[in-house]
Amino acid sequence: MSRHDSIGRRQFLEETTLLAAVASGLGAARPAAAQINNSASLSVKPVRLGFIGVGIRGTLLMEAAKGIAGAEIVAAADCYKGHLDRAKELISPSIQTTGDYRQVVTRPDIDAVVIATPDHWHLQMTREALAAGKHVYIEKPMTHSWEEGEAFIEAAEKSGKVLQVGSQYPSMGCTREAAELIKSGRLGQVTLIEGRIHRNTATGAWYYPIPPDASPETVDWKSFLGPAPAREFDLRRFFQWRLFWDYSGGLPTDLFVHLITAVHYMMGVQEPESVVSLGGIYHWKEYREVPDQMTALVRYPEGFVLQLTSTANNGHPAPLLKFYGTAGTIEFNGDSFTYFYEPRGESFGYSTHSWPEATIAEFKRRMRLNDRLQPIDGPAVAPPVEYRAPNDEDSTRAHMRNWIDAIRTGGKPVEDARAGHHAALVGHMCNLSYKSGKPVTWNKKTRKVETQG
Ligand SMILES: NC(=O)c1ccc[n+]([C@@H]2O[C@H](COP(=O)([O-])OP(=O)(O)OC[C@H]3O[C@@H](n4cnc5c(N)ncnc54)[C@H](O)[C@@H]3O)[C@@H](O)[C@H]2O)c1
Repeated sequence: MSRHDSIGRRQFLEETTLLAAVASGLGAARPAAAQINNSASLSVKPVRLGFIGVGIRGTLLMEAAKGIAGAEIVAAADCYKGHLDRAKELISPSIQTTGDYRQVVTRPDIDAVVIATPDHWHLQMTREALAAGKHVYIEKPMTHSWEEGEAFIEAAEKSGKVLQVGSQYPSMGCTREAAELIKSGRLGQVTLIEGRIHRNTATGAWYYPIPPDASPETVDWKSFLGPAPAREFDLRRFFQWRLFWDYSGGLPTDLFVHLITAVHYMMGVQEPESVVSLGGIYHWKEYREVPDQMTALVRYPEGFVLQLTSTANNGHPAPLLKFYGTAGTIEFNGDSFTYFYEPRGESFGYSTHSWPEATIAEFKRRMRLNDRLQPIDGPAVAPPVEYRAPNDEDSTRAHMRNWIDAIRTGGKPVEDARAGHHAALVGHMCNLSYKSGKPVTWNKKTRKVETQG
């Protein structure tokens, strides 16, 4: 039997039947992300939330939590007065606002805290909150250095509380469906994944505007610095902290980490093998320390390579993630994806063009080829199948809801400390490779990053 028989019409029919199922029923058969775990009875007493860090992200998180039945926002801590005033405006004038986050951590009637401060604060605040008996939602990247990862895992396990990391793709129905499709083998063997996040604005390059009332009177500089190295008062560092290594890991830990989290989730993997990366400060050169462009290659022991690129210098749309398999491709955009059925085809014309006509004819007869020198009963090409998340719920709210539900039902978080550690780890490895100019390796046994050469 020729190889072409083995990829013949019966398989094509099987594939297209499955594709029809994908087109018509994906998602319908399973609950949307918003409904998963959402069995908690509303009569149970609400989860009382305290927010630490209510800047850009913390404000969105508060707004997301405000709409969730079973959650109640009671306090917000921040070290810029404007953010606290805004919390009262948007949530309720009755919530407690404070410049001292420990008042939130130690307040006895608070069940859970949401931490959305700059990265250098994540570990200390999480540890204190877990030790005080609070459940924790910690924004991504969970860690500010890979060495912090195990401390998070240990603190979470010891506390018995629900720690969820705030990279929201795993809570999207779309991500779950794409993961199922990959797991079912519809893509064949996936050996290459591309991830892209591109931008072309000053905000995209992290030169966030500084509010006109910002001053030493409205900004608590010492509280912002916390465990970071001492520095003179600097509003750029305060509001544009992503530009500086003291508080941020730049593109890999800020943006790649979302893609890495999604890839780990969708491919069912956890730890990388090695990373090599290149980047630079090419365009946005003013007082920034972190690159405005980076490309990294991440190799996984399961047998695929993830290529990640982010530039702040071009905003041309590109799919967030592209999964290339031997039988198909997925273009993933966060709230939708397109699946292309692309089984391996064959066309011999390239080779046979240099043969005499009679030889070609005999070859065609023996191999059962059509006039285009393709197998007569080979797979046909099916139209791409587009899938949109059935829950139109905002991804941040879906993720927050999953955390609240896990707290109320005693369930597990969709993204635990281990997942948070491994996703951020890849980002830190990108930076180590960028800074050293060498590949870096993750030693699974010692659980340490090793720099080569
Ligand atoms: N999941 C996502 O899609 C997403 C999106 C944006 C940001 N984030 C993450 O959220 C975090 C915050 O980012 P952001 O863009 O909101 O930054 P931001 O600067 O707008 O907000 C950070 C806030 O933390 C406050 N803060 C700093 N130190 C504090 C302290 N000791 N006590 C209390 N408050 C303190 C600051 O005053 C500021 O208001 C980061 O870790 C970031 O990576 C996640």
